[in-house]
Order: sequence, then structure tokens, then C-alpha cells
Amino acid sequence: MDLLVLGGTAWLGHAVASAALDAGHRVTCLARGDDVPAGADLVRADRDHDDALAGVADRSWDAVVDVARQPGHVRRAVRDLEPVADRYVFVSSVSAYASQAELGADERAALLPPLAADEYAGADEYGAAKVAGEEAVVAGFGPDRATIVRPGLIGGPGDPTGRSSWWPARFARSAVGDSGDVVVDAAADGPDEVLVPLAPELPTSMVDVRDLAAWIVRLATRGPGGAFDAVGTSRPFPELIDAARRVAGHDGPVVTAPPEWLLTQGVAQWAGPRSLPLWIAEREAWGMNARSGAAARAAGLRLRPLDETLRDALEAERRRPDAGPHGSGLTLAEEAELLAAVPRA
Ligand SMILES: NC(=O)c1ccc[n+]([C@@H]2O[C@H](COP(=O)([O-])OP(=O)(O)OC[C@H]3O[C@@H](n4cnc5c(N)ncnc54)[C@H](OP(=O)(O)O)[C@@H]3O)[C@@H](O)[C@H]2O)c1
Repeated sequence: MDLLVLGGTAWLGHAVASAALDAGHRVTCLARGDDVPAGADLVRADRDHDDALAGVADRSWDAVVDVARQPGHVRRAVRDLEPVADRYVFVSSVSAYASQAELGADERAALLPPLAADEYAGADEYGAAKVAGEEAVVAGFGPDRATIVRPGLIGGPGDPTGRSSWWPARFARSAVGDSGDVVVDAAADGPDEVLVPLAPELPTSMVDVRDLAAWIVRLATRGPGGAFDAVGTSRPFPELIDAARRVAGHDGPVVTAPPEWLLTQGVAQWAGPRSLPLWIAEREAWGMNARSGAAARAAGLRLRPLDETLRDALEAERRRPDAGPHGSGLTLAEEAELLAAVPRA
């Protein structure tokens, strides 16, 4: 297959290009940067410009994979590539759905209204921008030649957001002693106790970037068309914590903090500074990590065990040359302050 990846220099796009090369396909990436996998051709272009795709629209493609976030990028790519490409796989998001309240929902759920503008202004418009991209792809390529992939949280090695590696990395900082075959971090520098939110019912899910990339290549190769929620298995938050402790070799004390108390302390949810990553207090948002995913699995998405995703995410963190923070989570100082004040049973 001759595959055009619109992107390829960041996390998922790079993984898609790598997976396609591994499967023996010819890969061309189009991006402004140049960090594409060895073996891929690169066309450097800025998709903010109307004629950005001129260098790839003069030849034919078996498939296009697009990770764009801006509707204008997608609209122009569909305009320029429909005449020369057989199939278009667009990476959207579960953020495209109008509601995140329902647990177990599937692709029949209502989407947000599409963003009319070519560019979205802020995170609030991200989902609507994805819907606009989806609509452009389906309108241009038709339902049989268009595949829409809506990932939930993507996890695994190299996660630029640091969300999927945060809990294993945090437990590794407090892991000491002999933990069987687990490599315990020799530089463990955390306190004995680890603070976790009390969230027994909170659903979590994580699709491994490598599983997602391999499946996207498969979809690019032979479809089917349609829309698919590409989500990991949904499990309660304590199971994620247990898995993170297992891969980090942590068997020390864990202190649970009630969600209402954490909110009064200004602890943020999901991601970002002073957050407990992947924690969500508001039930109206819980559905985003509890989508069915049955259609994607029926269409060939294979999910590796969560422990493997977390273990590899932790190992990748340990190999990061600067080992600096991703900008998500509590600092040890913030955590120590909270541990000193948390109401204990
Ligand atoms: N992380 C998650 O948990 C999650 C969940 C759901 C959905 N998603 C979706 O998954 C995808 C992730 O993609 P990704 O990891 O490859 O990262 P990304 O950060 O979304 O990548 C953007 C890619 O597009 C390229 N790009 C951006 N602006 C461009 C421009 N003006 N001209 C040309 N190229 C441009 C970037 O390359 P250059 O900067 O080199 O130009 C980069 O390769 C996205 O579609 C995201 O919305 C992510």
C-alpha cells in the first residue's frame, strides 16, 4: 500500500507511520517538522496554507491517515486528495460526542454540532472541530471510503501528555525493596505514602498507542468505512491504581483522599499542573472512559493487557533523557502538603 500520513512527526502519527512500515507498506508523511520514522518519505508543508498539499496531490494514494485537529486542514485535504486517494482514515476523538454522561454508549450517540470555522479557538471547541473534520471526510469520500476513528484516552510509551505514565511513575518514586521481577527504581525519592483520590466507581480506560496505530494501518488497508470508538477496556479507577503499583513494584502505603476535599484543596482533575491525573470527580464526564468499543473490537482492534501498557510507559519515562515533568500531576512538595492535611479515617 502507498500510505500518506498527514502528520507523522508526533506521537500517534509517528506510531502509525512506523506500524505501516513494519507491515511492509510505503509511507509518506506530510508535516512541518522532520521527526518521521526512518524509512518514511517526508514532504514538508504547512497546512495553514491553502496549497499545502500540492506536493502530494499530484500522485495517487491507496490511503490517507489524517490526525489533524483543525477543520480547515481537513476540509482542504479532502478537497485536494479525494481525486487521488482511495480511502481516508480520519483520527477524531470521543470528545466529538455531545454528552459524556452515559456509561456504555456506542457510536449511535449524538455528536456535537460541527464547528463552522476553519480553526478552533480553544479546548472547548476541540470536540466540535473534530466533528467538522469527520463531516468533511464523509461528505468528500462517501461512507464506504471514509473511516472515522474516535480514540478515547491513548496511553503507552512516549505519551507526550504524561497522563498514562503518571501513576506508574509516581508509584515507582516510592517503591523500595524486592519486588520479584519488577525493576524497582534505584533512585526512588518519594515519601512513603502515595496520595490517591477515593474513586471506587470512576471508570477509566486507555487504548495503547501501538494497538491503535496497528489497527489504523489495518483500516487504511482494507476498511471498513464507518465510525468507531477506539477505546480501551473500561475498568474502575482502583484497578488502574493496582496495575500501576504492580508494574512499579510498589507495596507501600496508599492514602485515599475524598473527592470533595481534593476539590477544596484546588487539586485539578484529569491532567495539568497540581492535578491527580486521570481522576474525574464529575459524573457527567465519566462516560468518556466507559464507551462500549464493541464495534472497533469487532473490526479488529486488539487490546493488550493494561499492565503491559503501563509497564512500557514507565520504562519509556525512565529512558527520557531530560526526565523532566510533563506538566501533569502533583509535585512531591504539593503532595506532601496534602498528605499532612488529608482527613484520615
Ligand atoms: N492523546 C489522546 O489521548 C487522544 C485522545 C483522542 C484523540 N486523540 C487524537 O489523536 C491524534 C494524535 O495525533 P498525534 O499524536 O500524531 O499528535 P498531534 O499533536 O495531534 O499531531 C499533530 C500532527 O499534525 C501535524 N501538524 C499540526 N499542524 C500542522 C500544520 N499546520 N501543517 C502541517 N502539519 C501539521 C504535526 O506535525 P508538525 O508539528 O511537525 O507540523 C503533527 O505531526 C490527534 O488527532 C488527537 O486529536 C488523542
